[in-house]
Amino acid sequence: MSSPVSPEQKGGLTPTSFKPRIFSGIQPSGGLTLGNYLGALKRFVEKQDEGIETIYCLVDMHAITVWQDPAKLRHATREGAAAFIAAGIDPKRSILFNQSQVSAHAELGWIFNCVARMGWMSRMTQFKDKAGKNSENVSLGLFAYPALMAADILAYHATMVPVGEDQKQHLELTRDIAIKFNNDYGVDFFPVVDPLIEGAATRVMSLRDGTRKMSKSDPSDQSRINLTDSADMIAAKIRKAKTDPEPLPDSVEALRDRPEARNLVNIYAALSGHSVDQVIRDFAGAQFGTFKPALADLAVATLSPITTEMNRLMADPAEIDRILGDGAERADAIAQPILEQVFDITGMIRSRRK
Ligand code: AMP
Ligand code: TRP
Repeated sequence: MSSPVSPEQKGGLTPTSFKPRIFSGIQPSGGLTLGNYLGALKRFVEKQDEGIETIYCLVDMHAITVWQDPAKLRHATREGAAAFIAAGIDPKRSILFNQSQVSAHAELGWIFNCVARMGWMSRMTQFKDKAGKNSENVSLGLFAYPALMAADILAYHATMVPVGEDQKQHLELTRDIAIKFNNDYGVDFFPVVDPLIEGAATRVMSLRDGTRKMSKSDPSDQSRINLTDSADMIAAKIRKAKTDPEPLPDSVEALRDRPEARNLVNIYAALSGHSVDQVIRDFAGAQFGTFKPALADLAVATLSPITTEMNRLMADPAEIDRILGDGAERADAIAQPILEQVFDITGMIRSRRK
């Protein structure tokens, strides 16, 4: 371990360069959806395959900011891990683990609770959406959630964070926390992270309402495609997806006021790896009676092998737990020295014998 560097020792700002490192997380608060796959998982795999150091986390401590049945949380964490691996994450090349096994997240999260300001947190739209009219009765953890998210990322000095569009504001807050910590303590310690919000499917919408995000917490199962859905279920959900009576247009521009049509075209583009322009060129003038079966075939061809592999992996939960444990050890080895430096910078005495 490198020795802790205190601002006093270094006489103020310490120029630090950060090597490229990716961190991202998904909550095990239910089954994963096509939105999670296209907005997150698929891109996690691409980043791993580009050869960048990648750390991926099932954020179980974030999940309990709203009530989770313990047995279901355990199941969803293992199923989430199975989904990562089935989608192409190689637990040898990437680090894959669940958050609560690495205590640095909670410890740095507390320090960031003392850096972040109440006003910043009050402006978070995800908190306002989740709390709704019930804000007096939600957990304190739900309010503090984005400070823990900043800790997830910054405990590894991660520089890039692939996420869907809905996480943009949380990543801006992560940048604000890093900057305020660096300023308050007169150090150049935490990197200012880059959000990676890319591709045609950064915001996959509900199949029932093109103005709402596809979400695992939507009460209607028809609104989403789950990674555990059978081929028949996927095809039926796409067939019944809400659309309008017009055929597909010949320009992307003309999709602007047709949210449901635009969503299905975006999903097709993301699944096929073609641009939205290309999909519009291929299907200009087509009725949904033609487009939907093509989309269903593509979705089934992509998702069925993943579902099959998830089921195979889920038959051996002990092996999944072993993979998560191994990932947690490797994650801890990166986070712990960084955390020790944070304790030193903030003036916490660390005199226990190791
Ligand atoms: P969550 O399920 O909220 O933990 O989200 C995990 C990741 O999936 C985050 O990067 C989200 O931005 C992404 N994600 C969730 N839902 C969608 C969606 N409907 N479209 C695109 N990305 C999504
Ligand atoms: N807040 C993210 C979501 O709900 C999940 C998350 C937690 C995350 N910690 C993270 C994403 C760190 C990226 C990096 O989708």
